[in-house]
Amino acid sequence: MTPEQINDLRREKYNATVVRLRKVHPELMVMRVRQDVRRQKHKPGQYGVLGLGFWEPRMPGCQEETRIPDAIKLARRSYSLSCSVLDDDGALLDLPQTDWLEFYVVLVRNTDRGEAPVLTPRLFMLREGDRLYVGEKITGAYTLDPVGPDDAVVFLATGTGEAPHNYMLWELLRRGHQGRIVSACCVRYGKDLAYRDIHDELMGRYANYAYLSLTTREAGDEAHKIYIQDLISSGQLENRLGQPLNPVRTHVFLCGNPKMIGVPEKDRETGERVYPETPGVIELLEKRGFQTDQANIKFKGNIHYEEFW
Ligand SMILES: Cc1cc2nc3c(=O)[nH]c(=O)nc-3n(C[C@H](O)[C@H](O)[C@H](O)COP(=O)(O)OP(=O)(O)OC[C@H]3O[C@@H](n4cnc5c(N)ncnc54)[C@H](O)[C@@H]3O)c2cc1C
Ligand SMILES: NC(=O)c1ccc[n+]([C@@H]2O[C@H](COP(=O)([O-])OP(=O)(O)OC[C@H]3O[C@@H](n4cnc5c(N)ncnc54)[C@H](OP(=O)(O)O)[C@@H]3O)[C@@H](O)[C@H]2O)c1
Repeated sequence: MTPEQINDLRREKYNATVVRLRKVHPELMVMRVRQDVRRQKHKPGQYGVLGLGFWEPRMPGCQEETRIPDAIKLARRSYSLSCSVLDDDGALLDLPQTDWLEFYVVLVRNTDRGEAPVLTPRLFMLREGDRLYVGEKITGAYTLDPVGPDDAVVFLATGTGEAPHNYMLWELLRRGHQGRIVSACCVRYGKDLAYRDIHDELMGRYANYAYLSLTTREAGDEAHKIYIQDLISSGQLENRLGQPLNPVRTHVFLCGNPKMIGVPEKDRETGERVYPETPGVIELLEKRGFQTDQANIKFKGNIHYEEFW
């Protein structure tokens, strides 16, 4: 493809501009994009779609694409909206007055499915001022809708799964939520916690808020690896919450790695729900009386989840 053809395709297919890009490290970024059209109405917790042409360059060192995709098409993926909660002066962001959307993205170099990752190796080549595609719709049922003003809210995430929680946290703080709020995130390395300073600052300002981070691959972690599930079994989560994990007045939000979430499958013969072999958070909490959302039967419980793959 010639540079002219590429410029034509970019003009035709892209509808947004990168207005701010924070590379937390070479494999993790917080990116703000401004759409050409007015930003859609949405709720914290929902997700949109990002896209880049297959003609765009890919980050070196990523799994090679063996199947050559249709070069004039867009590679598209879903991304939860994120939020830095505070503005550059340290005040709570006045989001209705802004015209960008924030995304928190990790580079996937290899997949375990045999097919090479299509979008993130291209997203990580972007610089401020570059153009990309943003889907017209922002959607999703992973929102604060079921949460009452005095309820305890627990956000549990792995990796970039903390993105929607940060946006929901902003909303809770903005509306003066009265109940306790705890947010926990489990990552491989300390450097993978892009929002840690902001959470530290917020904990100092809001007595009802606590943030908890776990690493699993720093020196010393291997000997005693602690996952999100262990926070529940050990009582550490309740400690930070300052009250028992009571299903009556607590909403738990789970986002990120499906193994941490552990959605049960339905047995084809008996119709019973079967938990994964390695327990996820859903199993631990259901055994304590919590109930999980079931979209297929339109059931809304007090465990809500968003799987990233
Ligand atoms: C509703 C929804 C919201 C999402 N929000 C985010 C988000 O806010 N930030 C984000 O980085 N990703 C998010 N994802 C994942 C995202 O859609 C892409 O799958 C991811 O960016 C990889 O794209 P890819 O084309 O490079 O690789 P793909 O070809 O999509 O490879 C998929 C494989 O990459 C791994 N993977 C995908 N996403 C992640 C991740 N976030 N962390 C760790 N491993 C991962 C898994 O092994 C998965 O099988 C979300 C997915 C869904 C369904
Ligand atoms: N090189 C780097 O510095 C670096 C850093 C971040 C991401 N990445 C890339 O980014 C991609 C995604 O990585 P990610 O770390 O964001 O996501 P991830 O692989 O989902 O890991 C996030 C956290 O979830 C933990 N986890 C794994 N299995 C679990 C389970 N069964 N229950 C509960 N928690 C579990 C992980 O621990 P474990 O340590 O046990 O896996 C890790 O602490 C990968 O493709 C990777 O190559 C690279």
